[in-house]
Amino acid sequence: MNTNSLLTEVLQLAMHSPSIHNTQMWQFGISSNQLSIHLNKKYLVPIADPEYRDTWVSLGIQVDIIQNLFKEYGVTTDINLLQKNLKVDHSQPVLLIHFDESKLKKPSQSRYIDLLKKRRSYRGPFKSSSMALNLDITNTFIINDSMDLKSINKAYHLCAAKQSLNSGYMDELRQWVKLSKDEQGFGTEGLDYLSLNLNSIDTFLAKLFLNDKWAKRFSRVGMHGLLTDESKNFKNMSGIIIKVLDKNELFPSQLIKEGRSYISIWLSLVEQGFEACPISTLIDLPEGHELLRRLLKLPDNALFSMALRFGEGDGSQVRRVRRSFNDWLVS
Ligand SMILES: Cc1cc2nc3c(=O)[nH]c(=O)nc-3n(C[C@H](O)[C@H](O)[C@H](O)COP(=O)(O)O)c2cc1C
Repeated sequence: MNTNSLLTEVLQLAMHSPSIHNTQMWQFGISSNQLSIHLNKKYLVPIADPEYRDTWVSLGIQVDIIQNLFKEYGVTTDINLLQKNLKVDHSQPVLLIHFDESKLKKPSQSRYIDLLKKRRSYRGPFKSSSMALNLDITNTFIINDSMDLKSINKAYHLCAAKQSLNSGYMDELRQWVKLSKDEQGFGTEGLDYLSLNLNSIDTFLAKLFLNDKWAKRFSRVGMHGLLTDESKNFKNMSGIIIKVLDKNELFPSQLIKEGRSYISIWLSLVEQGFEACPISTLIDLPEGHELLRRLLKLPDNALFSMALRFGEGDGSQVRRVRRSFNDWLVS
């Protein structure tokens, strides 16, 4: 890559961005004063995400993070969305970000970058539910103890159980487990993935569902639907933030906007001392949306772009599991 080291620094910071199934599906092409973002087919998850909704939302999160990072480095950017269809055309970039490279200036300190480094998907149990939150955001709901958490939990597990019977979904999940493993074999949640035999994840799941000892050990993967102990999932949780999307809004530019508000809400939660983790399984299947629609009294055309569970975390160290930086660049 023939580029300025400050630009490399910005892009390396962009690697903190979260993504559906930790796919890190984007790739960067760099030319003078322009960054092109491509989505790499190899890393898409069409079974878990058949409408590419989570993929576009993840892209929106990444774009928002990149634009904010450039801002921290003193540079304003313009974006140009090149694709209008939900189904991604891999032969072309999906989006361009224009910037003036000569103006890049390293910030002496940045609250934004500190927050970005602090954010993670927190899948552990919450410590206490003592904190409360008041966010007033259009089309956004906070589900808390006053609502029917029990039935939401049940619907979540129903969705997860249904996904676990889908062999294509399980293949994609295997990919997630692989991608979420660092050199020592530990995942972002501190799970010891080396002790999992990836070729027999179905056996692993069966054990998990049938055997309490295994269930306890791996309960932290719960947010991916592998949790048996339903009671722990929502214990001490402060709430789930749900963002509503109209069926007619299911197109790339709107989903990118959803991604932008997703990450601002998530970072705001972190700033206020919370930890959070998406539970998209709840909104990916009809069983989940139907229940939410009913509980939140929403019309039939309501879909969801975000389900983020949050509460007080355990203060453990943040781990990042990402592919190498070079793999993020278009060669
Ligand atoms: C749109 C979107 C949906 C996600 N859905 C889930 C989910 O259903 N369950 C889960 O455990 N994590 C989910 N994640 C979190 C990713 O797995 C996580 O961001 C990734 O593993 C990187 O880890 P980090 O967030 O700790 O940096 C989702 C992330 C995004 C951006």
